[in-house]
Amino acid sequence: MKPARLSLRLGLSVSLMGAGLVLLLATLAVLALSHELNEREHTNLANKMEQIRHYLSVDAGNIELSARAHALQDLISAHDNLNLTLYGPPPQRARLMSLGFGLDNQIAQIPASARLNFQSWSAQSGARLLTASQLMALPNGQRVRVLLSVNRADDRNLLNAYLKSTLIAVPILLLLIGITAWWLVRRGLQPLRQFRRIAAKVSAQDLSHRLTVDKLPQELSELARAINFMLERLDQGVQQLTQFSDDLAHELRSPISNLMGKAQVTLTRDRSAAEYRAVLESSVEELERLSRIITDMLFLAQVSHPVAQITFEPIELAREAERVMDLFSLSAEDRGIELIVSGQASIQGDRLMVQRALSNLVSNAIRHSPDGEQVRISIAPRKGMLGLEVSNRGKGIAGEHLPQVFERFYRADNSRSRLEGGTGLGLAIVRSIMDLHGGTVEVSSGENELTVFRLMFAVRLFADKSAPT
Ligand SMILES: Nc1ncnc2c1ncn2[C@@H]1O[C@H](COP(=O)(O)OP(=O)(O)O)[C@@H](O)[C@H]1O
Ligand SMILES: [Mg+2]
Repeated sequence: MKPARLSLRLGLSVSLMGAGLVLLLATLAVLALSHELNEREHTNLANKMEQIRHYLSVDAGNIELSARAHALQDLISAHDNLNLTLYGPPPQRARLMSLGFGLDNQIAQIPASARLNFQSWSAQSGARLLTASQLMALPNGQRVRVLLSVNRADDRNLLNAYLKSTLIAVPILLLLIGITAWWLVRRGLQPLRQFRRIAAKVSAQDLSHRLTVDKLPQELSELARAINFMLERLDQGVQQLTQFSDDLAHELRSPISNLMGKAQVTLTRDRSAAEYRAVLESSVEELERLSRIITDMLFLAQVSHPVAQITFEPIELAREAERVMDLFSLSAEDRGIELIVSGQASIQGDRLMVQRALSNLVSNAIRHSPDGEQVRISIAPRKGMLGLEVSNRGKGIAGEHLPQVFERFYRADNSRSRLEGGTGLGLAIVRSIMDLHGGTVEVSSGENELTVFRLMFAVRLFADKSAPT
């Protein structure tokens, strides 16, 4: 079954809730009204009883009870729903007087005591009655049972009329509440149309659409912001991918067209063995370059994979640095470059990867250092982490290139890097390795300034086996 529309669902729930509330209120009102009417009748009867007692007890020369009937008659006849019945004392219990609307003999059953009592009951006629009863003394000492009854028909009518009007009003009210709720919800959800419109437009070819956040209510503007942010990242990702495949094609094209050119030229005529050899030798160089690019690409793909994991082992940074420096010592010596390692710290990491990151940095440093200078590795704690800096003098990296040097295939000095066999992937690999270690890599440099690449490793107290995720 198709799920109901949100506006309908919300509208219905609001009207159900409204229905509950209205019914509750109406019930409470009926209860309060009937309680109030009850109270009033009780007070009324109590007051009247007080007056009756007063009339009965006035010592006017021991006048017959019947003589007092006038005054009592006046009291009762002002209200057509009152009845006063007086009974004599036991054993005869004779009915002494009955004023007001007629009541059958049932009334005789109601007992009385010195205290004022109330009793609700139904007469045989079906009338609901409230009777106040009390024993009262006449001036001659005779005790009479006084029963003052009120017919509650009026109260009943009032309550019924109230209930009737409520029963008519409630459904109308509910309908109004339902319609209003539905309309409000529909209006409230109006901005979602914009989401649908934008979602329909977005595709891998066109990720430039964004939601306008300003006019949206707060809850939706947060969602819109999150969606815009997501689109932004997707857009960047797609652009990077496109850029990357462009770059890759470009990178592979020149060595391949070099190889092809050389082979074609060589084949145009017969050549001596020495010539063929020379061509093959230079081809091997190109092929090595191609192979380096591909190996680096594969390594990058492997370490940048979202589920890439490494096994952590304790690593003495100084020892690894010495090892890497040893690898480069010959080429450094040729150019009179001094390699210096200082400081010591141990980290948790993948030894081969750390070595690879270090050798990428050191080979860059040696390549860009002028002859006779120094290339230093210094290891020291920094900002709660362990830092390893590789520094060299030389032309440095101009400010405009700094943010990009870690990107794949980016070279500050394109032609020179290519000539020297650089793939432009070295620093991208360093960054991926550091990501995998939960660390960072930073660079500080400037034109003709000291160039410093700084690896920051997290301090790990316990040897945990898995990669930080
Ligand atoms: N120590 C350094 N001194 C000056 N420039 C550097 C240094 N290290 C890297 N760079 C610049 O950063 C670019 C990217 O380096 P890298 O990713 O290792 O690629 P590659 O070394 O193959 O050119 C280099 O081409 C170079 O312009
Ligand atoms: Mg490099």
